[in-house]
Amino acid sequence: MALILTFTLAAVASANLMAIDLGTAYIKTAVARSGKGLELVTNEQAKRKTPAVVGFTEDGERLFGDAAVAFAAKKPNRVIFHARNLIGRCASAEESPPHCKPATVTIDGIGEFTGVHVVAMLLTMARKHAEAFLGNGIIIKDVAITVPSHFHSVQRAAVCDAAVVAGLKCLGVVNANTAAAVKYALDGKAKAPPVDPDAKKKKKKGKEANSHLALFYDVGASGTSASVARFILDSSKKSVSKVEVLSHASDSSLGGLALDEILVAQLADAFDKQRQGTAELKEDPRSARDLPRVMSRLRKEAQRAREILSANTERMVSVGSLHQDMDLHTKVSRAELEKTAAPLLANAVRPVLSAIQKAGITAGDLHAVVPFGGTTRMPKIQSLVLDALKRPSMNKSINSDEAAVMGAVFFGAAQSSTFRVRNLGIYDRFVRPISAEITRDPASGGLLSSGKNRSPQKVVIFDIKSALMPAKKTVSFSRNKDFEVKVFFDLDKSGSSPFSQRTLYAHLKVTGVAKVLDRFGKNPGSKKGAAKPTPRVALTFHLDASGNVRVGTAESSIDEVIITEREVPIKEKKEKKATPSAEAKESPAEAKESPAEEKDEKSDKTEEKTDDKKEEEKKKKKTRIEKREQSIVHRQTLTVKFLEAEGSIRSLSMSSADLDSAKKVLKELEAVDNERLVRAEVFNTLEGFILTERSKLSNSDEDAALLEVSTEEERNALVEQLNNAEDWMFTDEASKTEALREKHSELKKAVDVIGLRVLERTERPQAIKLMRENFGQALDSIAVIEKLHIERKSGNEKAFHDFRQTITAAEAWLDENVRSQDALSPTVDPILTVDMIAKKWDEVLVEMKKLQKLELPPAPSVEPKASAENATESEVESSGEEAKVEDAGGSKVDMGANVEAPAKEEL
Ligand SMILES: *[C@@H]1O[C@H](CO)[C@@H](O)[C@H](O)[C@H]1NC(C)=O
Ligand SMILES: *[C@@H]1O[C@H](CO)[C@@H](O)[C@H](O)[C@H]1NC(C)=O
Repeated sequence: MALILTFTLAAVASANLMAIDLGTAYIKTAVARSGKGLELVTNEQAKRKTPAVVGFTEDGERLFGDAAVAFAAKKPNRVIFHARNLIGRCASAEESPPHCKPATVTIDGIGEFTGVHVVAMLLTMARKHAEAFLGNGIIIKDVAITVPSHFHSVQRAAVCDAAVVAGLKCLGVVNANTAAAVKYALDGKAKAPPVDPDAKKKKKKGKEANSHLALFYDVGASGTSASVARFILDSSKKSVSKVEVLSHASDSSLGGLALDEILVAQLADAFDKQRQGTAELKEDPRSARDLPRVMSRLRKEAQRAREILSANTERMVSVGSLHQDMDLHTKVSRAELEKTAAPLLANAVRPVLSAIQKAGITAGDLHAVVPFGGTTRMPKIQSLVLDALKRPSMNKSINSDEAAVMGAVFFGAAQSSTFRVRNLGIYDRFVRPISAEITRDPASGGLLSSGKNRSPQKVVIFDIKSALMPAKKTVSFSRNKDFEVKVFFDLDKSGSSPFSQRTLYAHLKVTGVAKVLDRFGKNPGSKKGAAKPTPRVALTFHLDASGNVRVGTAESSIDEVIITEREVPIKEKKEKKATPSAEAKESPAEAKESPAEEKDEKSDKTEEKTDDKKEEEKKKKKTRIEKREQSIVHRQTLTVKFLEAEGSIRSLSMSSADLDSAKKVLKELEAVDNERLVRAEVFNTLEGFILTERSKLSNSDEDAALLEVSTEEERNALVEQLNNAEDWMFTDEASKTEALREKHSELKKAVDVIGLRVLERTERPQAIKLMRENFGQALDSIAVIEKLHIERKSGNEKAFHDFRQTITAAEAWLDENVRSQDALSPTVDPILTVDMIAKKWDEVLVEMKKLQKLELPPAPSVEPKASAENATESEVESSGEEAKVEDAGGSKVDMGANVEAPAKEEL
């Protein structure tokens, strides 16, 4: 995998991106990073998928994934499942997107959340998993997200908004089936089809030998979808150069959740039956269906049972204390599930046939049928699809759980500017037709205004039948004046459009046409009486890989017509004149003459003339003068401005004000979570402290020093203080982190009284011993220097005398204190501490350094007798050589300093 992904720049080491497979039930995460390629992320429990579930405790703590699922069994109404299904939904069923108030979920005492909020929370969770997986403080900034192919533009935009709210840059959304197809290509599963013996008959379709057709089939939690993809192999036929999605089809009735509901109903019925005639039922006559907590637990059991029934034919379901301390014991079987679910399962095939039909192929053309998504494991679903396609088996060639997220991370890397990926073109079907209306130009001549028709000119920009994304389309027409363009999301003719009506997407004003006319419209070279030319306008629309539409550039061009004359042979056919088209051009490249082409033509003519000269006589009778009109094209970029017209949405994304307020909502929740984390840490530290100290105090008979320095009363009092603190930790007062911190320092202070005594008692003898040794060494060292001062008559004798006094005083101080300390009981606080001893030594050291710095008169010049290497302290003393003396003295002082250091460290 690392082979297909390298960095363009070594410097951008922070460029890490993740992809999210955003399912209704589960979230999967993958990352792309330098050197390692594409990797699937495992969560804290080392699992490859995390339930897409958020829960909120009454105290505002958020729970994610499995913790939230477990919490749902207790508080089902404080947990949000299936957040993806909330995305882009309207609060009211009467309204339709994009002009509606978004649907929300309210959690008591916490807040009201839209799908964007909840998906943003899930993305934040996934980001934490990814960052923990990568380690080293690596930060994820970019994300690509899968969406089901039936998601409409508003839902796609909302998914990207959720990424922005989570503080991520949205690199794009990709259809989950397309992502799976990409993974199929990356894994080298798309092989060139075997050579058909009848190939000669089909020689026209030479390309077919290089293409592989596969159907991707996904049964997810909330829907079934099928997509046909064509893989174009490169000339070596070894690897895929292009993935082209030919069709998408989906059905929202069949999915894991709908199947679970069938089992949930079975389990609820079984429990009701079990309770019949019991005293418990008299006490609480509600059916299991009316007990949310029971239903929440049954849902969890149903999901597990359904998964197991894909491999086994039976499953015993046992749920302890489901309600009123009654257990549920019942059996579910595959056969029964298949029977009850038959009407639902009949829908398994519909998207498959629809995708094949939309792709314009037959089932026999498919080289592979590739299942992915958890629920495709259900044997009945597989057999139904295989029967419909008349195939013996499915091609289980990609990992059904991970294919989409792995394809999506490649898609993300391809969208990102910091990764260089394998050259693989990814083209997808975009979701809805887009058209434009362009205001007509009353003053302009020609086709457009010739009629009395003043209604806007309608142009199809992206037709759902033919358009692949990414794409670019240029529309050109003639205009004399500035004009307005309205871009519409049209209704999908298939009737599956989620929008109830044609929707105005953007209202634009294009200005600058008059300027072009002023500048180039004089047409000086043209023949007299020629009509004033009409500028042509070209508008470019872009459709990016995620299906976002953008108006790129607007350009105006005007033709200057020049008349040229030339000799032409009479027989020569008349050349066609280029006529400016008034209709919208399908192709992005305009098939019109450019100035460059113009020049080429002229030079051709001069060559022709030179050739003609040779046979001038001969040709004269056969040629005539032809007048020719030629165009020079002048181009000018026009200004495109968005009009804030009523009903125009311009962008499907949330406004920046809305994004900011959503970010604030998330930040506040996160602050509460973080505060909780900090409190938990402080709480744990305090708890640990209490445990350790109490255990030390209670086991004092194993600790001689502790036993020596403390009385039993003291120890008992401390243990009691610790016990009280432990009880206090679970009171309301302790809910504040600061209160916990204060309690910790209060306890520490109390415990330290004895701790300090232990420390002093253990360290003091060593400190006293070192101090006494230091006195001796200091005196020795100073004697060496003093001798020189005497020899050279420096007059500093008093200073040396004073220093000896200092030492004597310090020794007396030490003796006195040691005596007093020894007279004291070890169970009272010491009067002589290691710290005091170290300080005293520091005072002596200051004096000693002063002596070493005293000026020494120069020595009488004496030839050195020994080399430096041989010099030892005793020799130096006798040699009387100045430099050596200082070295020796210095080394003595260092020794003193060395003595001092450990004494301090030991404190
Ligand atoms: C897919 O499976 C069919 C059998 O159902 C097999 O004939 C075909 O070769 C497989 N295709 C690929 C690409 O492996
Ligand atoms: C000095 O050291 C050298 C070798 O390091 C040795 O040969 C010599 O005898 C020494 N001289 C004295 C005076 O010790």
